[in-house]
Amino acid sequence: MGTQKLNLAILISGSGSNLQALIDACSQDNFPAKINIVISNQPNAYGLKRAEKAGIPTKIINHKDYDSRESFDKALLETLSMYQVDLICLAGFMRILTKVFVQKWEGKILNTHPALLPKHGGKGMFGLHVHKAVLDAGDSQSGVSIHMVTEECDRGTVILQHTVNVKADDTPETLAARVLEQEHIAYPKAVRSIAEKQL
Ligand code: GAR
Repeated sequence: MGTQKLNLAILISGSGSNLQALIDACSQDNFPAKINIVISNQPNAYGLKRAEKAGIPTKIINHKDYDSRESFDKALLETLSMYQVDLICLAGFMRILTKVFVQKWEGKILNTHPALLPKHGGKGMFGLHVHKAVLDAGDSQSGVSIHMVTEECDRGTVILQHTVNVKADDTPETLAARVLEQEHIAYPKAVRSIAEKQL
């Protein structure tokens, strides 16, 4: 493979452990992508520290500074236009993007969702709510879905799924931890497969 790499923007809201998995993958010479910018809507997101430590430019766009989703997304678009970006990776980004934003980046936004879509997706389904829904439904398996982002929340094409077995004594927290381990493996894999197709 040549030296050409897919340019990523990673959008986060919190801990950024998926961001870390992508930083680690991108640090390998033979990984076909690199991170050009990390954007957080939460000023105190720990993921910002991870990016700084890796020498990646960061930008805070605090949604509380904007009076509408549209104006927040406009600021996001402006920031993205200042960096060369081929693919946006949502990594624990807890904001729903507007139609205008998604249409502008159609086919170029990837997300990690902590359940086996199409189950347990949609508005309000994030973080521990998802794992509680899996346990309440009595599902024997859960997992991670890496999927394309479309206008309808959590309904875009699934690129890759990894499953985990649900245990009888699981709590939302214990299940979340096992799913997260799989996310860290699946997300870089999905980015690699997209990069290899596009380059
Ligand atoms: C991950 O489990 C991710 O799937 C989930 O938030 C966590 C972020 O962890 N995202 C959603 O629930 C979005 N619907 P991280 O900040 O450590 O990567």
